[in-house]
Amino acid sequence: MAVRTVCVYPDAALRRDTEEITVFDDELKALAADMFDTMYASDGIGLAAPQIGISKKIAVIDYHGDKNVLVNPVITAEEGCVTREEGCLSFPGIYEKVESPEKITVEYSDENGEKHIRELDGFAACVFHHEIDHLNGHLLIDRVSPLKRAFLKKKMAKRAGDK
Ligand code: CO
Repeated sequence: MAVRTVCVYPDAALRRDTEEITVFDDELKALAADMFDTMYASDGIGLAAPQIGISKKIAVIDYHGDKNVLVNPVITAEEGCVTREEGCLSFPGIYEKVESPEKITVEYSDENGEKHIRELDGFAACVFHHEIDHLNGHLLIDRVSPLKRAFLKKKMAKRAGDK
């Protein structure tokens, strides 16, 4: 188990296409374990593989002890719309109010290849939606107003330049 480096926006890894996972082996379980370690090290509640530079369809979530490994997750239904404040480990220190579905149905496999179908609402729906967005190359910054987006881009670019 190991803590990996988290890619920060505008790292190109965050926008790459992700590959479907077909093999549920020890390597996949080790990757999931590393992802949990990395997420906990940054006090996060969710982490998707592109955030550690791996272009595969896997994300981990630990929301109030509800620990999930999402392999090849797909949102099959969504309903309503809520505005919530979201953060992201790839945008450290930034919290923005964004819209997301009020309720979602998600189908995914876990690290053992077992299939799950879950209906989620409240903040859990928001967290699952955020992580699945990552696997499709969609980021927090895509879901804010154009004006806000321009501001955040500048802020993140300045931060990258300061390093
Ligand atoms: Co995120």
